[in-house]
Amino acid sequence: MGGIKLGAYKMISFDKIPSTQDYAHDLIAQKKASEKTVVVALAQSAGRGRYKRNWVSHHGNLYASFIYRIAERDPRLSYAVAVAVAETLIQFGMKPQIKWPNDVLIDGKKISGVLIEYAQNFVIVGIGINIKTCPTVKEYQTTKMENYTDASVEDVLSVLMKKLDKWRNANFALVRERWMDMAVCINKMVKYQGKTAELIGINEDGALVLRFDTRYVLTYGDEISI
Ligand code: BTN
Repeated sequence: MGGIKLGAYKMISFDKIPSTQDYAHDLIAQKKASEKTVVVALAQSAGRGRYKRNWVSHHGNLYASFIYRIAERDPRLSYAVAVAVAETLIQFGMKPQIKWPNDVLIDGKKISGVLIEYAQNFVIVGIGINIKTCPTVKEYQTTKMENYTDASVEDVLSVLMKKLDKWRNANFALVRERWMDMAVCINKMVKYQGKTAELIGINEDGALVLRFDTRYVLTYGDEISI
């Protein structure tokens, strides 16, 4: 483990730990967390994804949990993070798309996942980006940056930190516009709570807008399937 200052971030790095996300939770529980701490590992033995899924975390990819102090939960953060990750990939010459709310895809295959969790007055933004390896996953296809660029974990982390700072602090109208530009499935039919709806986009509060014939539904958290 090492702790260094990287730009405005305090970075705590490991060769391998169970989960950077769990480590971030522990820091907060022990009152050792500070604003803009990032926990990074080269590999994880118990990486966690959304919906209690595993996040297979072999050596060679980016596994990072960013800790930020917050006054209150904000559903718009999820979109800012997705745009930051997508913009990071653009910097390396790639053409990302975003699948609601914050999966980033290349050529329709998942390359990055985001897990946002709250603890006390902090939010933990866990980000995994496939750089050198991509696991085989039952639910979706995966890809890795190595198929497109020879960027290292350090290169990607350094750009990602700058993009996170930019998009977390950007006006949400800009975040929304950028998210909508890159989003897959806008105006396509999706499944929501077992019914088919048209995905219209996100509104100014960060709610997903779905249309069932003439009725509009706003949702913040439920899973949609595409
Ligand atoms: C998803 O299911 O798409 C979200 C995956 C999030 C994985 C990252 S890797 C860094 C951090 N540590 C974890 O255990 N999970 C997140």
